[in-house]
Amino acid sequence: MKTMVSGASGGFGREAVELLLERVAPQDLILVTRNPASLADLAARGAEVRRGDFDRPEELDTAFAGADRMLLISTRDVGRRAEQHAIAIEAATRAGVQHIVYTSSDGSEPGNPAIVAPDHLRTEILLAESGVDYTVMRDSLYAEAAAFMMVPVGLATGQLRMSTGDGRVGFISRSECVAAAVEVLTSDGHSGRTYRIANEQNWSIRELASMAAEIFDRPIEYVELTSEERDSELAAAGVPEHYEVGLETETYGASARDDLVTYEAGIREHYFGTTSRDVRTLTGRGPTPLHEVLVRGRDAVLERSRLF
Ligand SMILES: NC(=O)c1ccc[n+]([C@@H]2O[C@H](COP(=O)([O-])OP(=O)(O)OC[C@H]3O[C@@H](n4cnc5c(N)ncnc54)[C@H](OP(=O)(O)O)[C@@H]3O)[C@@H](O)[C@H]2O)c1
Repeated sequence: MKTMVSGASGGFGREAVELLLERVAPQDLILVTRNPASLADLAARGAEVRRGDFDRPEELDTAFAGADRMLLISTRDVGRRAEQHAIAIEAATRAGVQHIVYTSSDGSEPGNPAIVAPDHLRTEILLAESGVDYTVMRDSLYAEAAAFMMVPVGLATGQLRMSTGDGRVGFISRSECVAAAVEVLTSDGHSGRTYRIANEQNWSIRELASMAAEIFDRPIEYVELTSEERDSELAAAGVPEHYEVGLETETYGASARDDLVTYEAGIREHYFGTTSRDVRTLTGRGPTPLHEVLVRGRDAVLERSRLF
């Protein structure tokens, strides 16, 4: 049984490969990436590293050949991803992949103003129509976004100026999303399932501000903005309006303004507040509470606050 990971050099991909290596032999791993040189260490450990880019369909028959199971990691090209994922799903079907595990998102529902939602929803539909066994992992917003993108602004300025209203988020650590995906990839009984990879409680951003104020012993006030005000403030902070391949700002990573502002609108409209026990059911361990993520990451969070 060969397990393939697409986008294996990203943050999620690398972590998934490390966990997979605890369960499967390196020879049974096919790691597909746009940048094989960056996985030379894993090739040296015995995994098969292949070049594959969803924007180059002609590469994918070779890249996916021989794979039985696939972790399809969503790309970052918001608005264009469904097209990329369709190409990957078609290639996987041609290659005879038996089961695809897909990293979707909480809130992938019609009507969600977040521009990340339609790509995920479309991909879920493509999977259902593909005829291949599949499992959808609807990951909530990573707790690391709270710890390393939101709280540092509050620490630096004394305010969290966002447009999330009283909407709530079931923040979950990326490592717990990875652990759940690896469990599904390496065990049976998950075909056709959609898992809610969320925390067991949720938090508003106002509550996040109070929690961080207490942990770091500094005043942090939540200030509600309109979407237009939030967009202007992010523009003034140098965040580009749209995603382009290679986007990486020091402060907001690969997230562009249209993504951030519409995601906050999605939170405000209560699309991202899912809570769930699926992580506990799948991995045998309850998810880390947000408070603990902040306490454990204390030094790194403080370090990040210097950027804002
Ligand atoms: N739930 C959340 O809070 C949250 C937050 C951020 C992102 N996400 C989603 O989760 C995914 C994984 O997150 P991450 O932290 O690992 O992001 P990341 O480190 O930026 O990785 C981006 C991933 O997209 C892959 N990719 C990009 N363009 C591709 C293409 N043309 N063909 C094939 N693969 C392509 C990359 O693969 P290679 O570079 O190896 O080719 C890599 O695996 C993201 O891509 C995004 O869709 C979720």
